[in-house]
Amino acid sequence: MELLELIKEYSKKCSENNEPGHDFNHILRVRKLALEIASHYEVDRMLLESLVYLHDIEDKKLNKGESVLLFLDSVNAPSDLKEKILNTLPYLSFSKYKYLPDEVLLEGKIVSDADRIDAIGAIGIARAFSYGGSHNRSFSDTLEHFDEKLLILDKCLSLVESKQIAKKRMIVLQDFYDEFKKENEL
Ligand code: ADP
Ligand code: NI
Repeated sequence: MELLELIKEYSKKCSENNEPGHDFNHILRVRKLALEIASHYEVDRMLLESLVYLHDIEDKKLNKGESVLLFLDSVNAPSDLKEKILNTLPYLSFSKYKYLPDEVLLEGKIVSDADRIDAIGAIGIARAFSYGGSHNRSFSDTLEHFDEKLLILDKCLSLVESKQIAKKRMIVLQDFYDEFKKENEL
């Protein structure tokens, strides 16, 4: 099997038991968004797609004890690709890097933006409540996540094309938030 196909299969397998907000469809949506943003640039497609497939594997929240390094060794990934993937993955975390440093590779910036765009809009709302529900959080607790992260996400995107895509989704998010607060008044 081709290397990218092996990486995709691994990503699919690792996301199998995740809550609906972090299932393999999240990865496929991030891929679609990443390719859309990447169409404005010259990118290394192999690196871009590898980062998409591998970006959530070592996320502590998803907690599977998987190692991207061991996986890449097991499929004999070329060392330059492996090095770029391993150097870039740590930046693909909102909690650690709200704003990406300039030196992050373009492919990393694209995947980071795509991942963040999937956290806003209608899908973002569904994902937040799926995550909250899977942790037994109340609606009000999940709404705090909107204040802390989701409602400022458009300001934390790296690329102009991403900010353009995010515009409509931010309106959807803000409208939902305002309406929810209103309907939730007791
Ligand atoms: P990263 O993994 O990049 O640090 P997060 O884990 O904060 O970013 O975000 C991944 C997605 O998980 C969010 O977009 C959201 O849908 C969900 N999520 C994370 N933390 C919470 C939370 N406290 N409440 C609701 N949803 C959350
Ligand atoms: Ni993700």
